Amino acid sequence: MKFALVFLVAIALAVVFPTGLLAQSKTTVFGTDHDVGHNGCASCHVPHTAQANAGRGQTLLWARQFSTQIFGTYDSPTMDETPQEIGDATYSDTNPPSGAKLYSVLCMSCHDGVTAPTVIGPTEDAAVGNPTNSAGLTDDHPVNMIYSTADAGLESPTTAVTNGVVLYDDGGNNTVQCASCHNVHDNSISPFLRVANSNSKQGLCGACHL
Ligand code: HEC
Ligand code: HEC
Ligand code: HEC
Ligand code: HEC
Repeated sequence: MKFALVFLVAIALAVVFPTGLLAQSKTTVFGTDHDVGHNGCASCHVPHTAQANAGRGQTLLWARQFSTQIFGTYDSPTMDETPQEIGDATYSDTNPPSGAKLYSVLCMSCHDGVTAPTVIGPTEDAAVGNPTNSAGLTDDHPVNMIYSTADAGLESPTTAVTNGVVLYDDGGNNTVQCASCHNVHDNSISPFLRVANSNSKQGLCGACHL
């Protein structure tokens, strides 16, 4: 009887919280590389006075300066969509990034290797957006472009999301951002991935690409 009840509750939970949603807890960030200096959530968010320091913004109670670097975009003759630049030399507390590109820009307040206060040195591999060290974002999987089923070889947006990635709405269009593939709060699939980068249709690439 008790077993049956537990079983039913488990089924009910599985229906209400399909896999992925259950894993949305933010506390998984503690103890990871993103628990920078053991500051916990305050590595990135502040509960108060988010705007008190120049360059820090109201967006998501962000605790860090926004990079004012221009990163460049990946482009290629075989792409259907044109990725849009995520950097802006005029980002500040009064002009914070907005729209879906936010989910890429925020990463660059550390991963560019140039922002002060810097946590990732310019010569480190993890400084993905450092233009002199890594060609900015011009040699990385494109971000900040529209995800459209009209483009060849892509799963439907609904299927992609069911497969575990996140698509970010920008004025009614689905877009791909850094956080489409990465879960900043959880490193259980290293390196901070939403779906394992395994060599199969169930892997990260196959979540979006047919
Ligand atoms: C390394 C930086 C970093 C740390 C540390 C961090 N966050 Fe975040 N947080 C982000 C980024 C980037 C986003 C936006 C991307 C996203 O939602 O995945 C975000 C989004 C959020 C959101 C809004 C979106 C949502 O999913 O609800 C909340 C709430 C949040 N974080 C809470 C927390 C809490 C609570 C902690 C500590 C347990 C924490 N964060 C630690 C970077 C961080
Ligand atoms: C508070 C600063 C900060 C923010 C914001 C931040 N990161 Fe990080 N991240 C770090 C640090 C520090 C490390 C560990 C540095 C290292 O390995 O050199 C790291 C490590 C990583 C790694 C693993 C690197 C490796 O080589 O194992 C990935 C992937 C990553 N971050 C992605 C992201 C993404 C995507 C975002 C935005 C959604 C983001 N980070 C936002 C500071 C940050
Ligand atoms: C299409 C999915 C995807 C997108 C979009 C993406 N990443 Fe990654 N990222 C990965 C995968 C997969 C790896 C692991 C690569 C490996 O192990 O060789 C990775 C690795 C990393 C690392 C570890 C160091 C390195 O360079 O290998 C960092 C840091 C990182 N990503 C940050 C970012 C940031 C910042 C963005 C947005 C500008 C971003 N990623 C966008 C899939 C993605
Ligand atoms: C969140 C969805 C998503 C994920 C996950 C994803 N991609 Fe993509 N990828 C896209 C979109 C959207 C495009 C742009 C399609 C276009 O405009 O033609 C793209 C473009 C590409 C291109 C074409 C570049 C060109 O020059 O034409 C390649 C190659 C590619 N992705 C490889 C990968 C690999 C490898 C992985 C896994 C590490 C991956 N993608 C994961 C959405 C994704």
